[in-house]
Amino acid sequence: MNILVTGAEGQLGRAIRRAAEGSADRYIFTDVAELDITDPEAVERAVAEWEVDVIINCAAYTNVERAEEDEAKALLLNATAVEYLAEAAKANNALLIHISTDYVFMGGCCGLLTEESYPQPLSAYGRTKLAGERAIEQSGCHYMIVRTAWLYSEWGSNFVKTMLRLMAERREVRVVSDQLGTPTYAGDLAAALVRIIGERNFHEGVFHYTNMGECSWWQFACEIARRAGIEGCRVMPCTTAEYGAKAPRPHYSVLSKEKFVRTFGIDIPEWQESLQRCIDELRA
Ligand SMILES: NC(=O)c1ccc[n+]([C@@H]2O[C@H](COP(=O)([O-])OP(=O)(O)OC[C@H]3O[C@@H](n4cnc5c(N)ncnc54)[C@H](OP(=O)(O)O)[C@@H]3O)[C@@H](O)[C@H]2O)c1
Repeated sequence: MNILVTGAEGQLGRAIRRAAEGSADRYIFTDVAELDITDPEAVERAVAEWEVDVIINCAAYTNVERAEEDEAKALLLNATAVEYLAEAAKANNALLIHISTDYVFMGGCCGLLTEESYPQPLSAYGRTKLAGERAIEQSGCHYMIVRTAWLYSEWGSNFVKTMLRLMAERREVRVVSDQLGTPTYAGDLAAALVRIIGERNFHEGVFHYTNMGECSWWQFACEIARRAGIEGCRVMPCTTAEYGAKAPRPHYSVLSKEKFVRTFGIDIPEWQESLQRCIDELRA
C-alpha cells in the first residue's frame, strides 16, 4: 500500500516516520515544501500520481493562542485544505486518516467525552478543527477521524520539552491546575496508526485516542519534574484565570478510548509510563 503522510516534519509526522521504519508498506513523507495541502491541484495530483491508498493528515495549524488572532489562516489549513484532501481521497478511492482534537469540545463538566458527545468548541483553533471534521464527513470519502489531546514528543515544541527547559532555568514555574485532560505521547499514537495500516484493520468513523488516565497540566508538570529527577524548581499550581491565556480551553476534556480499544484491539499505555519513555528518548 502507498501511504501519504502530510505535515510529516511535525510531531506526529516525525513519530510516524520512526514507527513506520521496516514497514512493508510504502510511506511517502511530505511537509509543506513537498506538498502544500492548501493547494488543491497539488493535492489531487499527488494522491493520483503516487497512487495513494491511505492519506494520514498530520498537517495542521496547531498554535492555539495565535489562532485566536488569525482564525482565517487556521481555517484555511484546518478546514479548507482538509476538504481538498477529502476530495482527493474520494476521487482516488483512498482512505483519509485525519487527526483532530479534544478542543472541539467545551468540556465544561466532568464525565468522559465519547465520540457521540456533542462538540462545541470554545476557541478559534477548536472551531477550525471541527470545521475540518465536518468537511470530511460531508465529502463522502472513506475516512477515519482520530481525535487526540495534549500531544508531546521528542520533536518540535510541546509541553514536556518546554517544562524541562523552564525547570532547568527557573526556581519556580506556575502551571494551570484547573484544566484536566490526558497527555498523549506521539510515539504511541503513531505506532497505533502504523499497526492499523499494517494489519489492514480499517474501520471508518470518529475515534478518540489519548494515553490512559487523566491529570491536570499541573499534575503533568509535577510528574515531568519527578521522572526527570529535577529538584531545584518548585512547580506551583495556578488557575486558568490567573494564567491568563488568550484562547479559552476546556476545563475537563478527558476522552473515552473505549471505542478505539474495542474496535482495533490495541492496548493503550498509561500516560505516566509513556512520559517516562519520552524522557528516556530525550535523554538518550
Ligand atoms: N499538538 C497538540 O497538543 C495536539 C493536540 C490535539 C490534537 N492535535 C492534532 O494532531 C495533529 C498533529 O499535531 P502536531 O503537534 O504533530 O502538529 P505540528 O507539530 O504543528 O505539525 C504540523 C506540521 O504541518 C506542517 N504544515 C503547515 N502548513 C502546511 C501546509 N500548508 N501543507 C503541509 N504541511 C503544513 C507544519 O509545518 P510548519 O511547522 O513549517 O508550519 C508542521 O510540520 C494536528 O492535526 C493537530 O491539530 C495536536
